[in-house]
Amino acid sequence: RAAPPRFFAQHARHLLGVQGMHPSRIEPFLDLAESYALMNRSRKTPRDRLRGRTVINLFFEDSTRTRTSFELAGKRLGADVVNMTVASSSVNKGETLLDTAATLNAMRTDLLVVRHSQSGAPALLARKVEASVVNAGDGTHEHPTQALLDALTIRRHFGTLHGLTVAICGDVSHSRVARSNIHLLTAMGARVRVVGPPTLIPGAIGALGVDVHYTMEDGLRDADVVMMLRMQRERMSGGQVPSAREYFRFYGLDHKRLAVARPQALVMHPGPMNRGVEIDSRVADSDQSAIREQVEMGVAVRMAVLDLLSR
Ligand code: NCD
Repeated sequence: RAAPPRFFAQHARHLLGVQGMHPSRIEPFLDLAESYALMNRSRKTPRDRLRGRTVINLFFEDSTRTRTSFELAGKRLGADVVNMTVASSSVNKGETLLDTAATLNAMRTDLLVVRHSQSGAPALLARKVEASVVNAGDGTHEHPTQALLDALTIRRHFGTLHGLTVAICGDVSHSRVARSNIHLLTAMGARVRVVGPPTLIPGAIGALGVDVHYTMEDGLRDADVVMMLRMQRERMSGGQVPSAREYFRFYGLDHKRLAVARPQALVMHPGPMNRGVEIDSRVADSDQSAIREQVEMGVAVRMAVLDLLSR
């Protein structure tokens, strides 16, 4: 029998992005994560599932919840998890990404979780390491596990993604969360709108099959889900946004703005959130907010990802 095309072999071994992913490949992640979420609640997880496997969290960029949840995910399945952060690695001594890859190969790493400020860095590593690579956020490109955990959170509330209207609001330009969510949600049959100031919405975004709105009043109307984004000042060259106070006045989510969405619309935020900049504290802490559930689903989704990629 002929060997499967290399593209498929690679595609299944790594999780580099969700762009172009078919629902039949998305659903197994969500279904397995759903059962891991239940096991997490009862504190009964299969500790032998990844026993003997090594997971390295290779983070070239700051992260709290993503790194921690990959660490917990690996440990709950019995893997040995090691965290490598830039500050303590040889990168500061001038080692290239590819030398780092060679080192990781020599250490016989099974799963490599990579966050990097440059789009495409995890894909580059994936070509050079024997381990399965999971993209934990690369530049402004993709953040596949965030999109999966967001999809799972939404699916738990509505039973499906199909036919829902999701408004993704704020700094879309710099957001890998927005990009991965657009790909995944549209693939699953949701209607996606992006909402924000023209300076923070890429001109070509319509090509991804989304509607573009420049006011919250238009963008949130009758939405089932309102997903807020952090303003990523660290990726801005300056001059793209006004002051935080002015930003909140036009694009911040408070109860008054939320009222034009569907009653009981779900409020989401990938974190870290800036209270009073993109979201009012009362909305973030209200019972419409799924922000804490997103964090909970994050661990479950990462368990499913580590598990499925190591089969
Ligand atoms: C996001 C990220 O790093 O892309 N955070 C996260 O992973 N939870 C969003 C952000 O930094 O604003």
